[in-house]
Amino acid sequence: MTHKVAFSFADGKTLFFPVQANEILLDAALRNGIRIPLDCREGVCGTCQGRCESGQYSQDYVDEDALSAQDLEQRKMLSCQTRVQSDAAFYFDFDSSLCHSAEPQRLAGVVSAVQQVSQSTAILHLDLGNDSPPLDFLPGQYARLKIPGSDSSRAYSFANRPGAQQPLQFLIRLLPDGVMSNYIRERCRVGDRVELEAPLGAFYLRQVSRPLLLVAGGTGLSALLAMLEQLVTQDCQQPVHLYYGVRHSRDLCELPRIQALGERLPAFRFTPVISDADPDWQGKRGYINEHFDSSELRDRDTDLYVCGPPPMVDSIRIWLQEQQLERVQLYYERFTESTI
Ligand SMILES: Cc1cc2nc3c(=O)[nH]c(=O)nc-3n(C[C@H](O)[C@H](O)[C@H](O)COP(=O)(O)OP(=O)(O)OC[C@H]3O[C@@H](n4cnc5c(N)ncnc54)[C@H](O)[C@@H]3O)c2cc1C
Ligand code: FES
Repeated sequence: MTHKVAFSFADGKTLFFPVQANEILLDAALRNGIRIPLDCREGVCGTCQGRCESGQYSQDYVDEDALSAQDLEQRKMLSCQTRVQSDAAFYFDFDSSLCHSAEPQRLAGVVSAVQQVSQSTAILHLDLGNDSPPLDFLPGQYARLKIPGSDSSRAYSFANRPGAQQPLQFLIRLLPDGVMSNYIRERCRVGDRVELEAPLGAFYLRQVSRPLLLVAGGTGLSALLAMLEQLVTQDCQQPVHLYYGVRHSRDLCELPRIQALGERLPAFRFTPVISDADPDWQGKRGYINEHFDSSELRDRDTDLYVCGPPPMVDSIRIWLQEQQLERVQLYYERFTESTI
């Protein structure tokens, strides 16, 4: 038995395709040339998520990091885990062009620099050389890096814009103990060969037609630096406000780069927020959403991009729901832990 499925997208396009009984939706979509962004295929990363608008469906496995109980109530689903039991329609909050844009490539880069830029953060520079065409990605997307000397891979958001004439950059949080963290801290050397898969993800800078609120938690700054670079390149005239939250002021990094980018935007504001601030910290304290201007967000259309650790992203999502800020369009990337 075959069911008819419709996928509609943020740009208003709808694509139709047949799905076999008991077939995984993602497999059917890929077979029909619709490349929904994906990463883990295991119901963990949340990259392939959409929302069911009509029809009956079931999901094999949904990790709580990928979709919350509230998401499930709202009929959000993971394409890699969903099977349909009737004709059905699904909505994806990104443009249909993403399903036809650059297919993830497997590449290898060479470490050209690794710098510790704060107590808890390093920047890895990867040079792809001139042998392959430039890697095409959208600011906000990420790459999956295979950690040299291990079988493990980890996801990292690009920290510079696509097409920049420089090595790829990744902002990497140094955990006290972690496969990538230990590699960067102890063994990473200029000249190391690093395999990667990219581009991945459905978090990316949309066409800018409204004021932007960019919110980074820790190394979530990475994706937002790529977006800021893109905004400068495209001569963005909209107001841009970047909030950057970290635990301690010694965790802040890339401040001169933020300042330099901000000076090239006509209406840029920057607010660092420290959750566990020393007494001598003069700036904002606590959690980022405590410092949002809710009356401004209520009165004007805003695109809100949030990137970083799941607790920070989730607290902002809950806050938005509580405030009922209907003129805010939210896009987010949660840095879920890896299971591989
Ligand atoms: C789409 C996506 C994009 C990402 N982009 C970035 C990025 O740009 N920069 C970045 O630094 N990270 C990013 N991450 C997270 C990154 O992939 C790794 O999970 C993280 O760097 C830890 O890797 P590790 O190998 O050092 O530690 P692991 O070996 O994975 O973990 C070691 C230990 O640390 C704990 N742990 C793992 N992750 C966290 C965490 N976030 N907070 C607290 N404890 C943790 C684990 O429970 C474990 O006990 C992203 C994740 C996703 C899904
Ligand atoms: S690709 Fe479906 S949840 Fe990761």
